Amino acid sequence: MVDDKLIEAFDTIRSGVYIVTSAYRRKPAGCTVVWLSRVSFDPPLLAVHLAPGGHTFETITKGKRFCVNILGDSGLLLARAFGFASGSTQNKFEDIPYTSSASGSPLLESAIGYIDCKLQSMTPVGDHVMVIGEIIDAARTSEEQPMIYDPHTFYVKGGLRVESLGQQAGE
Ligand SMILES: Cc1cc2nc3c(=O)[nH]c(=O)nc-3n(C[C@H](O)[C@H](O)[C@H](O)COP(=O)(O)O)c2cc1C
Repeated sequence: MVDDKLIEAFDTIRSGVYIVTSAYRRKPAGCTVVWLSRVSFDPPLLAVHLAPGGHTFETITKGKRFCVNILGDSGLLLARAFGFASGSTQNKFEDIPYTSSASGSPLLESAIGYIDCKLQSMTPVGDHVMVIGEIIDAARTSEEQPMIYDPHTFYVKGGLRVESLGQQAGE
């Protein structure tokens, strides 16, 4: 049951905005994610909840590693670029400066920090897959404030609010 009331309730959950990246056979993948949570200190674990079938999901499945790139307040354009297109049909990394993390996943230069992981497990839960990563490296690399997910910036009732996105992005 996904109705407006559930979406409204879910939208009260405060979250950061992240780009989860991975690589397989030197081909990078990445998508915008807000469904992410801390799981354990010892061992250090986090969970990313991904809809199956996407390019990033498939790449993590094959490459068995991923990196959570933490976006700052100025990351809206990046979040849009990685959240509204699939790497299976376009190269999202063209013109995006990045290096390689310890796990070999793309580390975006404009991220304010990162949490780099080896894949520990993938468990289907409802219509998403709970992707658990064992953290092998993490750092905050900028003092910029983390971006807080605001659904009104990205969507209106499940659809795109493109005009508002354009204004916010200064287009
Ligand atoms: C703000 C925002 C948050 C998103 N959060 C998630 C998420 O938590 N989990 C998920 O599976 N997809 C999420 N998405 C959707 C993916 O980013 C989107 O399907 C993307 O196109 C997948 O790209 P890929 O096929 O290259 O992996 C989000 C999109 C946006 C715009």
